[in-house]
Amino acid sequence: MTNILCIGAGYVGGSTIPIVASHCPQHRFIIVDINEERIAAWQSDDLPIYEPGLDEVVRRTRDKNLFFSTDVNRHIAEADIIFVSVNTPTKTFGRGAGKAADLQYWEKTARQISENSSSSKIVVEKSTLPVRTAEAMERILNSNGSGLHFDVLSNPEFLAEGTAVRDMENPDRVLIGGRETESGRKAVETLVELYANWVPRERIITANLWSSELSKLVANAFLAQRISSINAISALCEKTEADVSEVAYAIGLDNRIGKYFLRASVGFGGSCFKKDILNLVYLCEHYGLPEVASYWEQVVAMNEFQEMRFASKMVASMFNTVAGKKIALFGAAFKANTNDTRESPALEVCRALLEERAEVVITDPHALENARDDLGELAARVVFEPDPYAAAKGAHAIALLTEWNQFAQLDYEQIYGSMIKPAFLFDGRNLLDHSKLYELGFNVYPIGKPALTHLHAK
Ligand code: NAD
Ligand code: UGA
Repeated sequence: MTNILCIGAGYVGGSTIPIVASHCPQHRFIIVDINEERIAAWQSDDLPIYEPGLDEVVRRTRDKNLFFSTDVNRHIAEADIIFVSVNTPTKTFGRGAGKAADLQYWEKTARQISENSSSSKIVVEKSTLPVRTAEAMERILNSNGSGLHFDVLSNPEFLAEGTAVRDMENPDRVLIGGRETESGRKAVETLVELYANWVPRERIITANLWSSELSKLVANAFLAQRISSINAISALCEKTEADVSEVAYAIGLDNRIGKYFLRASVGFGGSCFKKDILNLVYLCEHYGLPEVASYWEQVVAMNEFQEMRFASKMVASMFNTVAGKKIALFGAAFKANTNDTRESPALEVCRALLEERAEVVITDPHALENARDDLGELAARVVFEPDPYAAAKGAHAIALLTEWNQFAQLDYEQIYGSMIKPAFLFDGRNLLDHSKLYELGFNVYPIGKPALTHLHAK
């Protein structure tokens, strides 16, 4: 039996390790966190994150070969392998503020491992980190003078929220980076063996440490770049009566382009795309590559343009004022099937509308609590309404901002009947049947497609 510890019980630690535990009953897994409330929630029936299928996996493994704890130091001492999945947000202070990764949680963890270890260990970077971070980690770990040896591996996580269980059960690839030394190779092989309990060998790829660390940032940058590219084209479509869905379909059939990540939207959100691209930008600047830095920075700039373009279009379409008007936002989560609202475009649109003094009501099946927290002081000016029918009643407009399937199933005839006329619907995800909504009487504004409006007909 191997004792496997994961430090950080957030989205990554909490949604990956239970699946590893379910495939490796021969090993013992502990997930620790300094956040007592979070650990208590992982031990309860009401898990702290909403992720389809995760409840069932946690129920099957918890208290068998999977345990949750706040006793970080004790479990470090007992562990053979330690996954580190603490948060690495964008730095908000000092050098690199606004771009560089804030490594304070990660460094604290490295020191804690160093101070509490009495045996050699494999330490696995699961958090997303700047390239060459493992070097610093090795220095901290191997500097306690105890003579212990720590092998640092990079094993970036590629799961997407909302499909975490599926992604982890059946990953496109698992990437493991290690040192090209005898001990490094042995550590890599240990981790390969762990994943081989359920992942086909050919999908477990190994690389040098720096390639592995950098690949994670680059994967996210390329995915986000595709969204910004199609969103840029959506703006041109709206000026030319081209339809962005038709354009995306036509170009995506070229195998060299491919069909994925070409859904135009109000913008990409989530805790990682923006953070990781800005981190990449910072690294390029740091290494004296300003042209490369500004190339990637444009992906984030285009996303901000798209979010603001959406909000501006709402105001412009509603006779250039939304002050005092009730507007229902359908969706707060940054994508469907998650309760995560970090960097959600829905909240950006909400902020812009509040700035214009609209009366905003937000409805979402799972993310209202997080939306309230993320909006901070602004939350006092927003109504959080779990029932979409109640949210839309008496509203001048609906803005659909998260592609929850539930929103596609609503009775829009009933909703239209309860709204102030003219009623507007802005579909930031191109989720709904626009012609049908138009026939019901709505003035419909999709993304990257001609608006369907009754306003100019007379
Ligand atoms: P998160 O904020 O949800 O969770 C991080 C957890 O680490 C928190 O619960 C925090 O309390 C805990 N923590 C911080 N310092 C600690 C310490 N010293 N000891 C114990 N616990 C500590 O973050 P997340 O979304 O799980 O992301 C974690 C990392 O994984 C980030 O680097 C992120 O970029 C990366 N990542 C995230 C996703 C995702 O979908 N969210 C996907 C791939 C990679
Ligand atoms: C993303 C990556 O897909 C994961 O591989 C990666 O592990 C993860 O970031 C991470 O490092 O955190 P995630 O942010 O959870 O996963 O979700 P995505 O499905 O990538 O969606 C990100 C955002 O882009 C969402 O707001 C989504 O609505 C938007 N999106 C996605 C589009 O607007 N159009 C698309 O075609 C696809």
